[in-house]
Amino acid sequence: MNQRNPVLPFRPAGSSQSWQQYSVLVVDDEEGMRSFLQRTLANRCGLVEAAASAEEGRALFNRIHFDLIILDIALPGKSGVEWLDELREAGFQGDVILITAFADIDTAIHALRAGASDFILKPFRVDQILNSIRRCFDRARLVRENFVLRREVAELAGGVEGIVGSSEAITSLCQMLRRVASMPSTVLLQGESGVGKEVAARALHSMSSRAQRPFVPVNCAAISAELIESELFGHVKGAFTGASEAHHGLFYYAQGGTLFLDEIGDLPLAMQTKLLRVLEDRMIRPVGSTREIPVDIRIVAATNRDLAEEVRRGRFRQDLFYRLDVVNITIPPLRERREDVAALARHFSAQLAAQLGVPPVPLDAATLARLQAYDWPGNVRELRNLVERSLILGYFPVEALPEPPPAASPEGGAKAAAALEEVERSHILGVLAECGGNKSEAARRLGISRKTIERKCAQWGIAQ
Ligand SMILES: Nc1ncnc2c1ncn2[C@@H]1O[C@H](COP(=O)(O)OP(=O)(O)OP(=O)(O)O)[C@@H](O)[C@H]1O
Ligand SMILES: [Mg+2]
Repeated sequence: MNQRNPVLPFRPAGSSQSWQQYSVLVVDDEEGMRSFLQRTLANRCGLVEAAASAEEGRALFNRIHFDLIILDIALPGKSGVEWLDELREAGFQGDVILITAFADIDTAIHALRAGASDFILKPFRVDQILNSIRRCFDRARLVRENFVLRREVAELAGGVEGIVGSSEAITSLCQMLRRVASMPSTVLLQGESGVGKEVAARALHSMSSRAQRPFVPVNCAAISAELIESELFGHVKGAFTGASEAHHGLFYYAQGGTLFLDEIGDLPLAMQTKLLRVLEDRMIRPVGSTREIPVDIRIVAATNRDLAEEVRRGRFRQDLFYRLDVVNITIPPLRERREDVAALARHFSAQLAAQLGVPPVPLDAATLARLQAYDWPGNVRELRNLVERSLILGYFPVEALPEPPPAASPEGGAKAAAALEEVERSHILGVLAECGGNKSEAARRLGISRKTIERKCAQWGIAQ
């Protein structure tokens, strides 16, 4: 148990305090005080070390992590308060309890200003020092818990690698991807062309336990019906005319990883039957082989067709549909989550500008309003292409997009105000998302106060 300090006795069973995760350094030139504190704390804390001077203390401090230092003020050489000053300056964030026999009010004030957690007069009772230590450890525990919780909250609220957007649709997509990433289940991604199905599939893979193994995308629509079986399962030498060498299939390369069957709706019916068998038996048989090979692969399939409709029309096998439809995730088109347009445009602008080696094109409110008013039939891919064009041209070719709603008439004015509000909303939320939800950082970048962000979020009904 107490492997960190074999010299000290183990903490007795039934001891009420659980301070085993904490380490303490006692610095006092009085032998009696040192051994008293060591005896008192040895079976409560994970590690207790003692030193007779600040110099000796520093030698230990440089070797071992301490959560708490109990420090005498009157030491030979450097005083406890001087050492405390140095410790804080060097960035030590642990607790320091100062103990002294000669207290005057100035020393006490200086000590507390220098960052002492407590100040105790000698002689003290055991419960006095134990209470002081408990307060320090409770505070340290809260700081740790708070840190862990904040990270969890940030993770829950924040996005998933590679997926930009803070709309409700994208937030719940990220939540869903995170939830199913750890499961072996087959996932079916549906959505119009360009909505980000492949981005989602890659994110799913990178968050899964298979992340270190291959992610193999296959475009089922791009391989001819004659070749697809051999492409997927491989073939043996002489399996068919032209098969002069044995060939591994994509399933083989995806072993242990994820196979992304894109455009699954285009898979020929004969191949659908074979794929169904693989999903059921988890075995593949290369073309021309008599041997079956076990596969350990997670299948993620995607389609921009309505697969249930394809089943009704007899173009997709119902049993395969049910096999794939274990977890069904539909990504909505960009026109149904216009609030993502600003963040996506900024993301692509920064990313592509760096790739192309050109400066990003500024996105003014009028351009943004126009981008947001457009319906994006090609979804995120179309937006990405437009941003790329803007970088090449040096301006946003928005004139090619339809006019946003007019602003002249009274109701037009209201509409314009609403559009402006929307621009502001998505801009603020976009920056907030980029800052991982950190309002102070977002406020700094936006040049507005944190309070304003909080007020706006409340106004927009966004939970904080
Ligand atoms: N939420 C997103 N965040 C960042 N980039 C995105 C997002 N959604 C899509 N993209 C980008 O948009 C482009 C199209 O995305 P993707 O290839 O994943 O779409 P798709 O749904 O697979 O389209 P298709 O059905 O045509 O194959 C890619 O360049 C991708 O990186
Ligand atoms: Mg795709």
